[in-house]
Amino acid sequence: MNFPENFLWGTATAAYQVEGAVNEDGRGASIWDTFSHTPGKVRHGDTGDIACDQYHRLEEDLDLMSELGLKAYRFSVAWPRIQPDGSGPANQKGLDYYRRLVDGLRQRSIEPMLTLYHWDLPQALEDRGGWTSRETSERFAEYASVVYEALSGDVGFWITLNEPWVSAWLGYGIGIHAPGTRETGAALSATHHLLLGHGLALDSMRAGGDNQLGITLNLSPVRPATDDPADAEAARRVDGNANRLYLDPLFRGSYPEDVRELHGPDSDFSFVRDGDLEKISAPVDFLGINYYMRHTVVDPQRQAGLPDAMRFENLNAATVVPEGVETTAMGWPVEADGLTEILVRLHEEYTQIPLYVTENGRAVDDYIDPEGGVDDEERVSYLDAHFRAARDAMERGVDLRGYMVWSFLDNFEWAEGYSKRFGLVFVEYGSQRRVPKSSARWYSEVIRRNGLE
Ligand code: FCB
Repeated sequence: MNFPENFLWGTATAAYQVEGAVNEDGRGASIWDTFSHTPGKVRHGDTGDIACDQYHRLEEDLDLMSELGLKAYRFSVAWPRIQPDGSGPANQKGLDYYRRLVDGLRQRSIEPMLTLYHWDLPQALEDRGGWTSRETSERFAEYASVVYEALSGDVGFWITLNEPWVSAWLGYGIGIHAPGTRETGAALSATHHLLLGHGLALDSMRAGGDNQLGITLNLSPVRPATDDPADAEAARRVDGNANRLYLDPLFRGSYPEDVRELHGPDSDFSFVRDGDLEKISAPVDFLGINYYMRHTVVDPQRQAGLPDAMRFENLNAATVVPEGVETTAMGWPVEADGLTEILVRLHEEYTQIPLYVTENGRAVDDYIDPEGGVDDEERVSYLDAHFRAARDAMERGVDLRGYMVWSFLDNFEWAEGYSKRFGLVFVEYGSQRRVPKSSARWYSEVIRRNGLE
């Protein structure tokens, strides 16, 4: 099974999850520093203070990427390294770090794919309301133009936001991510200001070059667990919240009516001003999709004591793991055909621009065995199935151009700290030794062959 020539095979990481060095070279504090240092927020009290120490081990990691034959590396820029207080002139030392990273990638013929915002908002901006404040959208556009001016000559792919649903709903709606707010109204206004920030940033970057500009959404196909109409309605609420609340403004210039109605008691959407939706729906060059799971939805009212359930608290809906479906170390159901489904839906209902899978991967309870290796066969079969699912979508007309596996290294998995491992490369945190897992060797062969056996 072959992939088109120039298919962009890579891996992804994010600044706070791998860099460490949180107090170096003028970096300011972000909401994740505050959150992870707040007792009870992250498992075991883990923080990103050291993480994978990539800030100090850049050359070693770049060499490893090159050894594995990666064609692309998706990384994010830490906003508080560039603007420690969230506004004003650039901190040169922060820019220097990403300059070294980008040059190091280029020297090894690895395509840099840069994400501007992967959740590490400068704390100073959070103190003034964070994403619930319109000012943050403007500050984000200013930050985007600072980074763009410095790196646009050498970075071809620019992603404004990573997963605005997660920033808005986990951060401001249910509070399990930074900044830890629990208000549906706040999640909605954060959604709008994130998307507006994206639109304003696009504007500011368009003015300065002709790179590929896009955004990354986490999308999940949704289906009801049974044919009970209550489950169907719950599934529609989840689809509205998780998918359409982001896709509709970006590709149709409007918020979905049913979602607005559903959240009527919590928000009148008065944060939307004239002209905002035109900015938000300005054309992008590509869309990034992070795919981890399908949502199989039930109306929780109908089922007491749901096992393995993930509740959408503000939607009166919950997800279940369908019978016979394997789950990952995160408890997430493994359903590769969901990737085909979401890609085809995007193509048919929303857009025909090029698509990239900007994240996909799974957590495994990995360990170093007595021979010194890490045999993660579960990850290999997961990736194999998902690559095939992507290929199926391409056969159905989807213009998929690349695939970034999450993740290059095991890293700080947000609220789960270091307890969950997603890497192709094992990180022994105490010594920071990198041990490529079986999946890394396997992926390297896939890339070399540009296909699957
Ligand atoms: C995504 C995030 C990424 C990583 C994976 C497992 O939601 O974008 O940083 O944590 O999940």
